Amino acid sequence: MIPVVTIDGPSGTGKGTIAELLARRLGWHCLDSGALYRTLGLAAQRRGLDPDAVAALAALASTMQVEFRDRRVLLDGEDVSEAIRTQAVGNAASRIAVHGPVRERLLARQREAASLPGLVADGRDMGSVVFPDAPLKLFLTASTEERAKRRYKQLRQKGLDVSLSPLVREIRERDERDASRSAAPLKPPLGALVVDTTAMTIAEVLVRVLEAVKRVFPDATD
Ligand code: DC
Repeated sequence: MIPVVTIDGPSGTGKGTIAELLARRLGWHCLDSGALYRTLGLAAQRRGLDPDAVAALAALASTMQVEFRDRRVLLDGEDVSEAIRTQAVGNAASRIAVHGPVRERLLARQREAASLPGLVADGRDMGSVVFPDAPLKLFLTASTEERAKRRYKQLRQKGLDVSLSPLVREIRERDERDASRSAAPLKPPLGALVVDTTAMTIAEVLVRVLEAVKRVFPDATD
């Protein structure tokens, strides 16, 4: 049995950061499943594929070569770690992610990430679909405004000239699409520990998460 902790929730809740910090603390592997969807979004964009061309997207999901190496993402050998982080690619990923056949083709790639000594899996359907038997499932939330503010700060720090209200709108649209799709909609899986991070720092969230990990995997945190 390979121990798995799943962390689901919308973007801007800090789940990516928490997943990485937790994996580092435990010495476990970390799966950023959003990066896989984003890489597919980028590959599709580059080929000029329509986000609703399901058969072509599903084929691309099977054939594209994606490698996660030293926290970098390689698409057909090219480092696309930065290219997949744009808002446009995030939106493309979200549009592509509504299609069941596309999601199915990405399943095996995600499950392959589970190996000893353990895995922290970050995404939208890690606890509900990809790793339904995970002994610990977390779901992070935060208000839309707080998540938009966090994204705003991030982009400003990168020197980008953005304003807050379009970000709030985009986040709302993306949440709506991710939560209302019929294939693996974003919602807390059964039995998940839900953590509202709106008024919490990353350090506080990590403490809360580590408490849960200690309860479920007493040997992992020695
Ligand atoms: O977490 P993120 O912002 O990098 O994810 C980008 C998009 O990919 C997100 O809007 C929906 C999709 N996604 C998904 O449908 N299932 C996942 N497990 C991860 C991401």
